Amino acid sequence: MEIYVDSANIEHIRHAATLGFIAGVTTNPSLLGKEDSSMDVKQRILEIHKLIGGHLSVEVISTNTKGMLKEAEEIVKWFPEATIKIPMIAEGLTAVRELNKQNIPTNVTLVFSATQAIAANNAGATYVSVFMGRLDDISNNSTEVLNDICEIWDVQDYDSRIIAASIRHPIHIIEAAKAGADIATVPYKVIMQSLKHPLTDAGLEQFLADYDKMQTERQKVISV
Ligand code: G3P
Repeated sequence: MEIYVDSANIEHIRHAATLGFIAGVTTNPSLLGKEDSSMDVKQRILEIHKLIGGHLSVEVISTNTKGMLKEAEEIVKWFPEATIKIPMIAEGLTAVRELNKQNIPTNVTLVFSATQAIAANNAGATYVSVFMGRLDDISNNSTEVLNDICEIWDVQDYDSRIIAASIRHPIHIIEAAKAGADIATVPYKVIMQSLKHPLTDAGLEQFLADYDKMQTERQKVISV
C-alpha cells in the first residue's frame, strides 16, 4: 500500500517528501483554505507539484458536469499529470466518464459506501477515495465498509485504485493495509505519529549511550 500526504501545507509536504516513502499528495478545498484563505490556489498547487513529483490530486469546486470539465481542462494546463478530484455525485460521474475518454486521471472523492464505489469504478474513475474517519464519526464502521469494497474489487477484478482517505490515526493505516487498499492518504501529523515507537527511542538512546561508554573506556586505555 502506497502512502500519500493529505495536506496543502508546504512545510509539511517539503518534509514528508524527504522521508523516502511518500508517493503523492492529495488536496481538497478545506485543506487549501486552512493554510491561507486568500492564497493563490494555482500557485500553491504548482509549488506542491514541484516538491512531490509523484501523484497530485486537485479537487474541482463545480457541482455541474460542464463546470467540472472546464475546471479540469484548466488544471491540466497547470501541469499535465494532474489527477482531477471529482465529488461522488451524479454530475461528477458524468464528468469522470468524459475525462476518462480524454485519458485524464480522476479521483472520485467523498465515497462512503460500496455502491458509490462501484458506480465510480464503472464510470471510469482512476482512483476512488473512501473516507474512513468521517464514517467512524457517525458510528459507521469504516473498516467494514473498506473491507466490503476491497472484497468486491477482488471478486470483480475492478480497475480503479482504492484510496483510504480521511485517515485520523495510525490504526486507520493498518486497517486500510489489511483490507487491501492500494493507497492511504494520511495527514502529516499521523504520518509522523506512525513512525514513532517508544521502544525505538529507548533502544536508540541505549545504543548511543553504550557507544559513548565504549569510547570513554577506549580513551582511557589509549592514554595509559
Ligand atoms: O482526503 C480526504 C480527507 O482530507 C478528509 O479528511 O479528516 O477532513 O475527514 P477529514
